[in-house]
Amino acid sequence: MKILLAYFSATGNTKKIAGYVFEKLKKSGADVEMLDITPLSVREKKTDLSLYDAFLFGMPVHSWRAPRIVRNWLKTLDGCGRKCSMFFTYGGFGIHPAHYTTCKILEERGFLVVSSAEFTEKGVSNITPSAKLASPASWLIIPSSPSQPNTLAVTPAELAC
Ligand SMILES: Cc1cc2nc3c(=O)[nH]c(=O)nc-3n(C[C@H](O)[C@H](O)[C@H](O)COP(=O)(O)O)c2cc1C
Repeated sequence: MKILLAYFSATGNTKKIAGYVFEKLKKSGADVEMLDITPLSVREKKTDLSLYDAFLFGMPVHSWRAPRIVRNWLKTLDGCGRKCSMFFTYGGFGIHPAHYTTCKILEERGFLVVSSAEFTEKGVSNITPSAKLASPASWLIIPSSPSQPNTLAVTPAELAC
């Protein structure tokens, strides 16, 4: 299975998380490629999604949603029923509607959204790889398709219960 990890990062936080996730996936034996969609030139070039079986989309939260740039890029993709997950980095105020609204876009584009995660500023602002990110307090995950507007995230510790 080949996975594409595509991310947008205006100020570098999401890039750090994406790099961490990428390394983790590679170490677990996954065949994964990373695509930085931050440069306009990359977004303008059509990405050949037929090369991949599953997708990970990483982005910051801008005004409680995925950045407009990312929303517009996602709307150009064709999921063809393939699975995807997403993750957000954000400053940390509240549970955002970003999971739901981005899930809706991805579903409209034919993706099967299986999970969504969020990394708060606590985790993204001072990255020292695994130690900080391994802390349940620094990130949250939504274990199934976040297709309800009021979907709540749970911590990895809760998932393990
Ligand atoms: C224009 C803009 C809007 C933002 N809106 C939010 C927001 O609604 N909620 C939040 O918690 N953080 C918000 N943030 C903070 C970013 O989500 C956070 O710093 C993120 O990690 C930045 O990711 P990046 O470094 O990959 O660009 C915003 C930042 C910017 C620049």
